[in-house]
Amino acid sequence: MISPSKPLDHLDDWEESLAARYPAAASGKPKAAFRDYRAQARPSVKEFYRLNHRHQTLEFVLAKKREYLPLTRRHMGIWEAMEFLNTLVDDSDPDTDLSQIEHLMQTAEAIRAGGHPRWFILTGLIHDLGKILCLFGEPQWAVVGDTFPVGCRFSDRIVFSEFFADNPDTNNPALQSECGIYEPGCGLDQVHLSWGHDEYLYHVTKDYLPEPAQYMIRYHSFYPAHSEGAYGHLMDGRDREMFRWVRAFNPYDLYSKDAARPDVRSLRPYYEELIAEFFPAKLAW
Ligand SMILES: [Fe+2]
Ligand SMILES: [Fe+2]
Repeated sequence: MISPSKPLDHLDDWEESLAARYPAAASGKPKAAFRDYRAQARPSVKEFYRLNHRHQTLEFVLAKKREYLPLTRRHMGIWEAMEFLNTLVDDSDPDTDLSQIEHLMQTAEAIRAGGHPRWFILTGLIHDLGKILCLFGEPQWAVVGDTFPVGCRFSDRIVFSEFFADNPDTNNPALQSECGIYEPGCGLDQVHLSWGHDEYLYHVTKDYLPEPAQYMIRYHSFYPAHSEGAYGHLMDGRDREMFRWVRAFNPYDLYSKDAARPDVRSLRPYYEELIAEFFPAKLAW
């Protein structure tokens, strides 16, 4: 078993902080109570964002893409990758915290209960498999966290945006105009987002899934765009249309954790069949 590096005790502490920032409409918690997440965020979460915003530069992202996107690390099936991700241990309480497989299955089960198509359920099942980057030795700030474009001005709608003062790109005028190295309306496919589990898994799975699923995987952590409305000037018409799917996916990711713990063993045959419907036995990671 491999432990991830700090500052978060548990990789999912980041997702928990998101659920606090964007409370479900059904939770009865007034949104205003969560406005000041800066004050409420745990010190570890704040430290996590400080590192993330300082180190995610254009150069860093391009280097990680060169390192990982040739997909020459492993040959693994989807279920195998789920079990591999489950070897990630955090300093969390195993009795109360969900394992990675449980989070994935809970997300998928919530989507299934919502009556959505099979590819959508499958997307819920796999959406966080890119977190195996932790097991390849990547620090937490290069695996999880809200994603944002690099190579152009950092939006003040990114959480803890004040920490970008320590990002070297902030001092490069060519990277800090509104569009930076990009053309207005160029489409997000042309834009480099901060490196993490979304982009990595998108490249592993894109050839096997319908376009809305690809968008859900690639942009599910892009909160500045899908939940804060920033970066519309870099999107094209296709992005705007597909972001409806990204937004449709988001509640299942954030709010399915309160549901009953899934029975992984009894659900496994259903999900193995679903995986086989879309994916080959082995994929390049
Ligand atoms: Fe995720
Ligand atoms: Fe997730």
